[in-house]
Amino acid sequence: MSVPDASATALIALERIVDGGFAEAEGCIDGDHESLVLYREGDDVRGWLNICPHAGRRLDWAPGQFLKSKAGELVCAAHGASFSLVDGNCVAGPCKGDRLRAVPLHVRDGQVFLRTSG
Ligand code: FES
Repeated sequence: MSVPDASATALIALERIVDGGFAEAEGCIDGDHESLVLYREGDDVRGWLNICPHAGRRLDWAPGQFLKSKAGELVCAAHGASFSLVDGNCVAGPCKGDRLRAVPLHVRDGQVFLRTSG
């Protein structure tokens, strides 16, 4: 059994994210409640603020419904910017060269945690 980590907040059970798919979760970043986009690849989960760097809109077309291109990129539902799911960089669209803001996640005991400090 793992020791609880006071500097991490449980966001969602890993099994609730389809492998190769997305989920939306709420997390506290720098004291603000933010919507996050989570992307699962096997036992690894990466996450970013659910805010597009182009015009500040949410990336999902409905809460928790994110678009993935055939090339395997996250596509903003507002104007179609495409983001790498490896590093969050915008690879095509109106904010090409910009990037999503990554959030620090880790997976433990089947739960996805947001590191809230340290
Ligand atoms: S707000 Fe995302 S592409 Fe314009």
